[in-house]
Amino acid sequence: MAPAPSEIDVFSIPHTRIVKQLEELTDTLSATNFSNHVDWDRMLDNLRTTFTDFKFHEKIENECIMWKLKSRLKRLKIEIAAVTNVHSDNHLTDMLDLVEDCFKRGKNKTEDDRVHFGRMLVKALREFTKDFLPHLKEEEEVFQQLLMKYFTFDELKVIKFTVLERHSQL
Ligand code: FEO
Repeated sequence: MAPAPSEIDVFSIPHTRIVKQLEELTDTLSATNFSNHVDWDRMLDNLRTTFTDFKFHEKIENECIMWKLKSRLKRLKIEIAAVTNVHSDNHLTDMLDLVEDCFKRGKNKTEDDRVHFGRMLVKALREFTKDFLPHLKEEEEVFQQLLMKYFTFDELKVIKFTVLERHSQL
């Protein structure tokens, strides 16, 4: 499968940033001394900011890409399960809820609590990453091809411009 021309590749730039953020988060969690409340608070702030960004990424994709693709397919009376179900099972909301929960309940907790929540977060981030990276790859490989099949080059250039513009506000 030939890669999408860069002018109409709507996923790669935001996804490169997301993968880098995930790597940095994994490094941050590995380096965090959960016993130390300063380290703990900094790590939680970092997690919360990053996962809020990820949620916005999903919102931008829905509004700028997925709803347009669904609408185009509906008009053509084509049903594709992957399109219907996109963003329904990538665990992003679950992860953000866990981070918010730790943020509310974990701040100013005892050292034992922080260590407990910290282990939970490390495990959850590992599981999230295991699901999320294939999701990004599916968008880049399957969804990009669908977009190229059902939209014109010029339409995709406009979509890419809007996607990047919205991401630049994060
Ligand atoms: Fe690009 Fe749906 O994450």
